[in-house]
Amino acid sequence: MAKDVIIACDFESKEKTLAFLDKFTGRKPYVKIGMELFYAGGPEIVREIKARGHKIFLDLKLHDIPNTVKKAMAVLSKLDVDMCNLHAGGTKPMMEAALVGLTREDGTRPLLIAVTQLTSTDQEAMERDLLIHEPIDKVVMHYAKNAQECGLDGVVCSPLEAGKVHDVCGEKFLTVTPGVRFADGDKGDQKRVMTPAEARKIGSDYIVVGRPITAAEDPVAAYERCIKEFLGE
Ligand code: C5P
Repeated sequence: MAKDVIIACDFESKEKTLAFLDKFTGRKPYVKIGMELFYAGGPEIVREIKARGHKIFLDLKLHDIPNTVKKAMAVLSKLDVDMCNLHAGGTKPMMEAALVGLTREDGTRPLLIAVTQLTSTDQEAMERDLLIHEPIDKVVMHYAKNAQECGLDGVVCSPLEAGKVHDVCGEKFLTVTPGVRFADGDKGDQKRVMTPAEARKIGSDYIVVGRPITAAEDPVAAYERCIKEFLGE
C-alpha cells in the first residue's frame, strides 16, 4: 500500500506556493491544497501544481445535497487530483453520490476520503450544538464504517485514532492523519500530536504535515526528515 508524506500548502497565494515548491528540486512532494489556496488560486493552481508533477490531495471537505456533491465531484475529478474529501456527516446517500460523480468514464477516480467529526469538535460541542449524545469515539468509528460501506477509501483522523480505525474497518481502509510534529519541534495550536515515526508505528497511511515543513528554516531538509522517519527511507 502506498504510504506518503503530504505537505499542507496553507499559503494565501499562488506565488507563495510556487516559490515554496520551487525549493524541491529532487523528489516531488505530495501536496495538500485546502480551501484557502483553492479559493485564492482556483482550478488554475491545481492544474499548475499537477503539471509540475506533484500528486494532489484537494482538501475541500464537501457537504451538500447528494446531487450537488455528485456534480461538484465530477468537476474535481476532471482536474485530475489524486485524493479529495467530504464530510461523512452528509450521510450515506451523499457519499454514494460523490463516488458516482468522481468516477471517470474509464472507471478510474481519485481516492475519496471522509472527514468524520472535525478534531475541533469535542464531546461538549457535539452534544450542545449537534445534539449528538453518543461518545465521540463511537461517533467517529460509526462515520468511518458508514464511509467504508459506501465504498470510500478511508478517513481523515488524528494519528491517535488510526489504529482503532484500522481495527474497525480493516488494514486496507486508509487513514490520513494531520497533527504530526517532530519530537523536538513546536506544537503550535495542535494539541494531540505524534511524531512521523510514531504515526508510522500506529499504522497511518498518509501523514499531512504543514508548518513543521512550511515554516522550517530549511523546508527541504524538514521534508526529507519526515520521509525518513515515516517511510524509513
Ligand atoms: O501546520 P499543520 O501541520 O498543523 O497543518 C495540518 C494541516 O492539516 C492543516 O492544513 C490543517 O487544516 C489540516 N487538518 C488538521 N486537523 C484536522 C483536519 C485537517 O490539522 N482534523
